[in-house]
Amino acid sequence: MTRVAVIGAGPCGLSQLQAFRSAQKNGAEIPEVVCFDKQNDWGGLWNYTWRTGTDEYGETAHSSMYRYLWSNGPKECLEFGDYSFDEHFGRPIPSFPPRALLRDYIIGRAVKSDVRDWVRFAHVVRDVSYSEATAQFSLRAVNLVNQVDIEETFDYVVVATGHFSVPNVPSFEGIDRFPGRVIHGHEFRDAVEFREQRLLIVGASYSAEDIALQCRKYGAASVTCSYRTGAMGFDWPDGIEELPLVDRFEDSTVYFSNGEIREIDAVILCTGYLHHFPFLSEDLRLLAHNRLYPGDLYKGVFWINNPKLMYLGMQDQYYTFSMFDAQAWYARDAMLGRIELPAESEMRADSKTWQRREKALADPIQDIDFQTDYCKDLSESVDYSLDWDLAAENFKHWEHHKEESIVGYRNQAHPSPVTGTQAPIHHTSWWEAMDDSTESFLGS
Ligand SMILES: Cc1cc2nc3c(=O)[nH]c(=O)nc-3n(C[C@H](O)[C@H](O)[C@H](O)COP(=O)(O)OP(=O)(O)OC[C@H]3O[C@@H](n4cnc5c(N)ncnc54)[C@H](O)[C@@H]3O)c2cc1C
Ligand SMILES: NC(=O)c1ccc[n+]([C@@H]2O[C@H](COP(=O)([O-])OP(=O)(O)OC[C@H]3O[C@@H](n4cnc5c(N)ncnc54)[C@H](OP(=O)(O)O)[C@@H]3O)[C@@H](O)[C@H]2O)c1
Repeated sequence: MTRVAVIGAGPCGLSQLQAFRSAQKNGAEIPEVVCFDKQNDWGGLWNYTWRTGTDEYGETAHSSMYRYLWSNGPKECLEFGDYSFDEHFGRPIPSFPPRALLRDYIIGRAVKSDVRDWVRFAHVVRDVSYSEATAQFSLRAVNLVNQVDIEETFDYVVVATGHFSVPNVPSFEGIDRFPGRVIHGHEFRDAVEFREQRLLIVGASYSAEDIALQCRKYGAASVTCSYRTGAMGFDWPDGIEELPLVDRFEDSTVYFSNGEIREIDAVILCTGYLHHFPFLSEDLRLLAHNRLYPGDLYKGVFWINNPKLMYLGMQDQYYTFSMFDAQAWYARDAMLGRIELPAESEMRADSKTWQRREKALADPIQDIDFQTDYCKDLSESVDYSLDWDLAAENFKHWEHHKEESIVGYRNQAHPSPVTGTQAPIHHTSWWEAMDDSTESFLGS
C-alpha cells in the first residue's frame, strides 16, 4: 500500500489529513497516512506554551505565540471552505478572535473528521532521505516518551513543520553588555512583564507592530521601534515611536543611525524567523526566506528536484488556513494520481513566471492580489472552493482600516467568504479589551 508521511500536525499538516479524509468520504481509496508531531497535541503554533527555549523533552519549544494574541487578520480571510466559523461556533462571531478561539476552530474540524488516529504525537522526525534505488523515502523519528527510534519507508513526504519557530537573531555592537533583558519575539510571552519599562523593539513587520501595541496596551512606559528598511508608518498611539536602525548599545543607552539616543530597559528582537529543516537530507532541503513564492517549488508546494516531496505553507502568509487547504488538496490529488505534474522544465518555468511577478509587486494590495491568484490557481483544479474574491476584498479593507487606525482595525467586521454572513462588531474595542478569554469574547 502507498504510504504518505506528513511531518507536523499544525494547521498545514491538519489540512493534509483533512484533504485525504474528505476524498475518502467521497469514495476514493486513499493511501496510509502517518503524521508525526514532536508536540503532545495538535495545533502547531496555536498551542500556546509558557515554555521558551526547550520543551519537556529537551526539544526546541515550537510555539512563538504569546498571551493576549488576537488574530491580526480578519477570520473571514482564513476561513476553511468546508468548515465555516458559523458551523463551528453555532452563530456568527466577531472578525478578530483571540488565539484560543482560532485554535478551537482548527481543531474542531480535525475532531469532526476523526483524524487523530493518524497522528503520532511526541514523535520528532530526525532524518529523511530518498533512495533512487527503491524510489522511497526513509524516515527516522524518535518517540520522545520512551526515546525509542523508529525507521520507516514512505512513498511521499509532506513537510508541514512551519517556518515561524526558529528565530532569526541579529547582533548589534555593545548588546552583549546591555544590562536588561534581551529576547526574540519567539520567547515573548506576556506583555505585563514589561510594565513601566522603556522598551526597544527591533523589526518593522507584524511581530514588531503587534508586540509594540501589546506592550504599550499593558503598561510599558514607552516603546521605540527600530527599522532596517522602512518604517511601519502607522499613526501610533501616544508612547510608541519609530526610529531607524540601532547603531550601537553603550550600557543601557541606545544610539540610532540617525544620531538619536534613547535610554532603554529591555529589548525584543522582532527580526523574523528562519526556514529550518535540519531533518531533511541536503538534496531535499528547501532554502528560502519569508517571501510570497519560495524558490524551487512547483505550485509553491512540490520540490521540483523530487516532487514526491511536498512543502505546505512555506510562503509569507496573507492567507493562512484556506491557502494551506488549497495546497493540501492539490498535493493530495497529485498523490492520488488525479493530477499529473508536468515535466521538470515546465515546473521550473512555471515557478519562474510566478517569481517574476512576485519581484514586480509594489505594495500590499498587489501582494494580496498575487496570493489570491495563487490560491485560485490551486483551488480551480481541485474540489475546494470559497469566494476568494470576497476574501481578497476583506484583506484590502483590512489594509485600509490599519492605515486609518492601528489600534482600531480589530473593531471592524467582515463578511464570510464561505457563508456570506456578516460578522457582528465586538462588544469592546480591542484597545480597551484586556481580557482575551473565550467567555469574554463570546459573551454579550
Ligand atoms: C506570533 C505569530 C502569530 C501568528 N498569528 C496568526 C494569526 O493571527 N492568524 C493567522 O492566520 N496566522 C497567524 N500566524 C501564522 C502561522 O504561521 C499560521 O497560522 C500557522 O500556524 C502555520 O501553520 P503550519 O502548520 O505551517 O506551522 P506550525 O503551526 O508552526 O506547525 C508546525 C508543526 O510541526 C511540528 N514539527 C516541527 N518540526 C518537527 C519535527 N522535526 N518532527 C515532528 N514535528 C515537527 C511542530 O510541533 C508543529 O506542531 C502567526 C504566526 C506567528 C509566529
Ligand atoms: N496575530 C498576530 O497578531 C501576530 C503577531 C505577530 C506575528 N504574527 C505573524 O507572524 C509571522 C511572522 O512575522 P514577523 O514580523 O515575526 O516576521 P517577518 O514578517 O518575516 O518580519 C521580519 C522583520 O525583521 C526585520 N529584520 C530582519 N533582520 C533584521 C536585522 N538584521 N536588523 C533589523 N531588522 C531585521 C525585517 O526587516 P526588513 O523589512 O528590513 O527585512 C522585518 O521587518 C507573520 O505571518 C505574522 O502575521 C501575527
